Amino acid sequence: MLDGRKIMLGVTGGIAAYKAVEVASRLRKLGAEVAVVMTRNATRLVSPLTFRTITGHPVYTEMFEEPRRWNVEHVELAQWAELVVVAPATANLLGKVAAGIADDFLTTAIVAADCPCLLVPAMNHRMYANPVVQRNIRLLRALGYEIMEPEHGRLASGAVGKGRLPEPDRIVRRVVQMLTRREDMVGVRVLITAGPTREPLDPVRYLSNRSSGRMGYALAETARARGAEVVLISGPTALAAPEGVQLVRVVTAEEMRRAVLDHLAWARVVVAAAAVADWRPVEVAKQKLKKEQGPLTIQLVPTVDILAEVSQRRRPGQLVVGFAAETEDVLANARAKLERKGLDLMVANNVGRPDVGFDSEFNEVWLLDPGGGCLHVPRCRKEEVADRIWDRVVELLANATPSGG
Ligand code: CTP
Repeated sequence: MLDGRKIMLGVTGGIAAYKAVEVASRLRKLGAEVAVVMTRNATRLVSPLTFRTITGHPVYTEMFEEPRRWNVEHVELAQWAELVVVAPATANLLGKVAAGIADDFLTTAIVAADCPCLLVPAMNHRMYANPVVQRNIRLLRALGYEIMEPEHGRLASGAVGKGRLPEPDRIVRRVVQMLTRREDMVGVRVLITAGPTREPLDPVRYLSNRSSGRMGYALAETARARGAEVVLISGPTALAAPEGVQLVRVVTAEEMRRAVLDHLAWARVVVAAAAVADWRPVEVAKQKLKKEQGPLTIQLVPTVDILAEVSQRRRPGQLVVGFAAETEDVLANARAKLERKGLDLMVANNVGRPDVGFDSEFNEVWLLDPGGGCLHVPRCRKEEVADRIWDRVVELLANATPSGG
């Protein structure tokens, strides 16, 4: 995927520096040339020899070491790179770059670079929350630096909070996105539903399903990367908000329906990836139901089919894409749903398999269109599936006549 692409990987002195070894290794496996630049503190945590061995490339550390071509080397390296990535980026590094300070090889190379630059902060949660650090991040974003959100979790100090370096896999995916970016959805307004809904039974219990929200979030992330404006309406999930996407959190099917209808006039494309509950309890008990009451019968009523309603209310030129979660006769059932709901595209997947679909990072889908077309997307990561879906949407948009803005 990254054959021959040139990446400068900056490593600063955070505890997470060891994870940069995995990042370098994965980038190499994808075919990229990786030149590592380490700050002095980073070399105290990980040996430059490790990076040198993994990348097969000299590692740059001090400005004033041999060879004496230091005064041009950082500029040469900055010019050589197609992408600069700094992972982990400490609060110190963010502050220096935001202030234009260039006092070692890494910061000098960053100032000299005119290619895209991805900074991946990792630090103690209190440091990350510090208004000065947050101001620097805002400033850097405004200047065009891409900055990944740290993850929430256990930190090196033992505390739990937001500040962990994202997993190498996520960093690498972001790099791939930046280097292979297609800007073919610039200005397209996309409305996506994602995740499960919860239908309350009493104050502590609800009906829901196994959807993790990953497919919808991957759609949001990839559409954004291709230049779309994205509103993501999400049921409860454990996923972080994708950057640059307007996230609307909802709980029940009815809340999701209202949020979708609120944004419907705005959207050019609607993709319903949510696993909306098909039924809800007729009554929601005000107090917790007690088991002394004996056996319980719950009466359920169907929820409104949001996708069918969207399809009915759509205006000309609006594109509506649905998902069909099936466990048998996948293609036949999906085609029947496509026709019944009057969609432009149906993404059919088999949710009966353990290795794809619900709660998995992978999916295998078929893209059905009303003309009888069926495109198979073999098992791959949900981000790749999302890109294949957008490829089809971009084709359909090119054929459709736009209307109403
Ligand atoms: N959907 C929706 N609102 C609902 C139910 C489903 O918008 N109340 C959407 C889903 O987001 C998905 C599509 O409809 O895009 C198909 O969902 P699925 O559960 O596969 O099909 P259903 O139409 O609910 O039919 P069934 O459950 O009987 O298979």
